[in-house]
Amino acid sequence: MNKKIILDCDPGHDDAVAIMLAAASKELEILGITCVGGNVGLDNTVNNALKVCTLIERTDLKIYSGASKPIHYDLFTAEYVHGKTGLDKKGDPIIISSDYKVEDQNAIDFIVDTCKSSTDQIYLCPTGPLTNIALSLQKNPSIKEKIKEIVFMGGAAMCLGNTTPSAEFNIFVDPHAANIVLGSGIPITMMGLDVTHQVNVNKTIINSINENNNKSSKFFGELMDFYTIFHKKLYETEDTPLHDPCVIAYLLDPSIFTGKLVNVVVEENSELTRGATIVDWLGVTNRNPNCHVMNYANDKKFFALLKNKLSTLP
Ligand code: BDR
Ligand code: CA
Repeated sequence: MNKKIILDCDPGHDDAVAIMLAAASKELEILGITCVGGNVGLDNTVNNALKVCTLIERTDLKIYSGASKPIHYDLFTAEYVHGKTGLDKKGDPIIISSDYKVEDQNAIDFIVDTCKSSTDQIYLCPTGPLTNIALSLQKNPSIKEKIKEIVFMGGAAMCLGNTTPSAEFNIFVDPHAANIVLGSGIPITMMGLDVTHQVNVNKTIINSINENNNKSSKFFGELMDFYTIFHKKLYETEDTPLHDPCVIAYLLDPSIFTGKLVNVVVEENSELTRGATIVDWLGVTNRNPNCHVMNYANDKKFFALLKNKLSTLP
């Protein structure tokens, strides 16, 4: 049976690739794409989702606009990675189809209503700060029963953070939302920096995907040419972690990743460690396991999957 998913994102170059990978996969039924303020402000993340779906000729996909800021903090954005629009790149600008608009319904109401009315269980796939998901759970806690699993990109179990030395971006931006999600009792899988840094884009990967010779793969190359600039400088390598598509790859083929069920809580307030994911890998606390934390990725299988799926798009 197809997995029904809601993709909750803040596009973002790697979120854009996650949208493309999901849209290319018949194994997944995208019920909606919900946007959150994160990499850039909400207006831009919504616009970028509309752009990506226009480019891949999937204007049937419904886009919803959600929270513009985290639950308690002001929004911290990452134009320094994704550029002013959040999807900066060279090449032809993407003109959103004139009849393709964001839905009137708010993302949080959409998540709640969709879960309530669905006869099947749903996978929530957040690739940005967890604000929309946390607010949906707070608005109607009974939707938990309808959520099969939350597979999110965020956190860093056994490696450095990328936004502060201790915190990954999505969790740093809204640590309170992350704790609401982690404390929900819903099955949760964390695709943190531990795995996303094993799934690296470089010139060889870009060239290989370009062999697909379609406009979506060309778009992938244009996105990556911009997205890799920041990472090459920061990490002083030719390799750039392709974070967000790991969420979708996990749903399509969980054998690409391995990990362990452990307890995760998030530091909310400390000046030095706000947004740190405290991962009890060794089971040294008496806190109950609440999260399946991935720590290994097979990059060959991942990129073979991505190349194959992108080849099926326009
Ligand atoms: C996460 O932060 C964002 O910049 C990316 O889109 C990804 O979701 C990586 O830390
Ligand atoms: Ca993201």
